[in-house]
Amino acid sequence: MGDSPGTGTVIDTSRARHVAIIMDGNGRWAKKRALPRAVGHQRGVEAVRRLVRGLEGTGLECLTLYAFSSENWKRSEDEVDDLMNLMRKFIRSDLAEFIANDVKLKIIGDWRGLAPDIVAMLEDALAQTAKGSRTLAVALNYGAQNEIARAAAQAAQQGEITTETITAHLDTRDLPPLDLLIRTSGEIRLSNFLLWQAAYAEMLFVDTLWPDFKPEDLVQALDDFARRERRYGGR
Ligand code: FPP
Repeated sequence: MGDSPGTGTVIDTSRARHVAIIMDGNGRWAKKRALPRAVGHQRGVEAVRRLVRGLEGTGLECLTLYAFSSENWKRSEDEVDDLMNLMRKFIRSDLAEFIANDVKLKIIGDWRGLAPDIVAMLEDALAQTAKGSRTLAVALNYGAQNEIARAAAQAAQQGEITTETITAHLDTRDLPPLDLLIRTSGEIRLSNFLLWQAAYAEMLFVDTLWPDFKPEDLVQALDDFARRERRYGGR
């Protein structure tokens, strides 16, 4: 449970501070019900909303969600449009709630390459939520290899490339270390998400399709995390 670094401060290493989720299975959720994929994504947004509403109760400092990868542009134009429109709608409808619930929005990835109206909307949302104490980080137009390459290029410009200088230039540089990475829908791969940050994170792969994922499932994942023994390469 607690672990003393010898300074008199007790750090509870069993408590997760930062969880990230690969939200997978919207399409299969819709297919099972003979519904359009767009409905699966809409239900996916509802699952996001439920989690954000329950965030305070989890004690987490940060929840990072993989909403749109740099590879997702390969989907049909209609599906990309649906996802972008859901993003616009989500920010418009939930921003006031974020502010009221002390949620700070953060965006990771190459998000400034999105449509100008979305960029403007996100910039406004970032400014309005800047004082929040719990972070919802959304990965948009995100690819971990690109993030690492960008960070390494910036580190090189300023001097030496080391693990520390790369870490200091990642999009997640101001977030707590990643404790737990969850993927839904039974797929067991990282899909270019937080590859650097996952170096010592615990992994949890669950069969639940994303639209069915509930705050209780996150609480259960956190309980599971609290029971794991993390070694960071030691014994
Ligand atoms: C994977 O399901 C999900 C995505 C590619 C997008 C995730 C997006 C959302 C949950 C909605 C947008 C989020 C916000 C924050 C507004 P899939 O389509 O790959 O499912 P499948 O593998 O079953 O086809």
